[in-house]
Amino acid sequence: MSATDFLVTTALPDPGMRLLEAAGTVTLAEKMSAAELARACASGNYQVVVAQLRDVFDAPLLASAKIRGISNFAVGYNNIDIEAATANSIVVGNTPGVLTDATADIAVLLMLAVARRCVEADAYVRAGRFQGWEPELLLGHDVSGRTLGLAGFGRIARATARRALAFGMTVAFCPRPPGDRPVDDEELGEFAGRVRHLSWPDLVAESDFLSVHVPLTPETRHLVDESVLRSMKPSAILINTARGPIVDETALVAALRDGTIAGAGLDVYEDEPRLAPGLAELPNTVLLPHVGSATVPVRAEMARRCAENAIALAHGELPPYPVNPEAMAR
Ligand code: GLV
Repeated sequence: MSATDFLVTTALPDPGMRLLEAAGTVTLAEKMSAAELARACASGNYQVVVAQLRDVFDAPLLASAKIRGISNFAVGYNNIDIEAATANSIVVGNTPGVLTDATADIAVLLMLAVARRCVEADAYVRAGRFQGWEPELLLGHDVSGRTLGLAGFGRIARATARRALAFGMTVAFCPRPPGDRPVDDEELGEFAGRVRHLSWPDLVAESDFLSVHVPLTPETRHLVDESVLRSMKPSAILINTARGPIVDETALVAALRDGTIAGAGLDVYEDEPRLAPGLAELPNTVLLPHVGSATVPVRAEMARRCAENAIALAHGELPPYPVNPEAMAR
């Protein structure tokens, strides 16, 4: 049997499936278990897997896989052991760039929603409790004039900084928490003289809003842990639109419960789609279901890039958005 070109684990939005179907043979196998995915990868029946963040490609799976590549429908790729993929000559593609603004919008939306108690207020109106304007009804906090601390200073952090500056916020950042690295004015570009570079401990201590924008790596797992939460201002709000395991969610629930920090806005969770016990009961949180990139045009562009990566991989070519181009030469 000759290898089918594409194994697709979840149908892509338009134009993704159309592009794949025009380029080769597509097998759509939704809701595969981890064992079924591993068996399919090892079968030799598929050239390229078009994958989602929930599909885990660990070292044992990759060692037995007989595939040319993985096209991940995401900018992040923490679901794939990249070192093991490279060692097994499996090239990985992702979808960078197109979801930067949409995700920064969600970071700002969460800041405003927590600070201004948007979800509580909406529930109040829907419950028929609104009796007219009140001087002290649902008082929240301003964002203008307050300090946003950005953990990381990549594309999404910068887009968030741009928005925060327009809101009249003071913006500070630490480029590679928990460590640091120099950032010169050339790298700062439009932000030179407009944002402050702080060490991780200083950023944690000074932020009114601490927003996480780092990739999930062994170094950033539980970057925000109990001791970091204790070092934050009691009035501070934590925002996470990056990856759930960067925050110790059990420690966060305790910190929100006992007033160590004031609130949290989360789009990602440590063990998605499960939430840490108690999180959903806390009124000082706004919880979204991982929708940072969820706009119609962004998902369409992600689907296009994901399909283009997959098609190039099936042809034995370097994909336009490669994560580990070095795997090609092996
Ligand atoms: C979403 O989380 C992505 O990495 O694209």
